[in-house]
Amino acid sequence: MNNIKACIFDLDGVVVDTAKYHYLAWKRLANELGFEFTQNDNERLKGVSRMDSLEILLKIGNKDFDEKTKIELAAKKNNWYVSYITNMDESEILPGVKTFIKHLRDNDIKIALGSVSKNAMLILKKINLVPYFDSIIDGTKVTNAKPNPEVFLKAAKELNMNPSSCVVFEDAAAGIEAAIRAGMHSVGIGSKFILYKADKVICGFENIKLDILNF
Ligand code: BG6
Ligand code: MG
Repeated sequence: MNNIKACIFDLDGVVVDTAKYHYLAWKRLANELGFEFTQNDNERLKGVSRMDSLEILLKIGNKDFDEKTKIELAAKKNNWYVSYITNMDESEILPGVKTFIKHLRDNDIKIALGSVSKNAMLILKKINLVPYFDSIIDGTKVTNAKPNPEVFLKAAKELNMNPSSCVVFEDAAAGIEAAIRAGMHSVGIGSKFILYKADKVICGFENIKLDILNF
């Protein structure tokens, strides 16, 4: 299995389907502000930080507010989002993810989380996955959201790995771009049309074997 020594997982939309809760909360905010926000629009927010997501959303709705109001709007969205994920448990881990992660560990592959979400630890605790990660880099540890490679480069550094020995699993186009800029391999989770820059694209982790790490 060539030179892959570490796997870096995005969280939202890869390990758990929280992308749908982010979408519901942003849509609720857009509707409250008086405009529509579609699933298609939502693709642009995946992997993007909370405040940058708000800017994109407000542009779509042709709205502008002062900084103080923007912070209040982002907090409002986050409160809704947190209320949606509050009852989350292990059953929401996406199919095949845990088996794949265990398989990686059994084969001495290091595992990291690379997410720009500030809610990542809260979610990982709810789904009891914290002990499976050798390194956790989340939105509290980075200043630049994807497509900036900071989150993945920090994970590689913490694992003491060269970027070329790492593969990133991502559901966001911005995340695949970040992996490329980091000099890492990438596997997209989702649509080939959206994630066309990834080395490989899969629909999910069910029945995925270690040979996925052959590039
Ligand atoms: C990413 C999501 O993982 O985290 C984005 O793909 C989200 O949609 C970002 O905006 C920030 O999340 P949070 O939980 O800090 O608002
Ligand atoms: Mg994601």
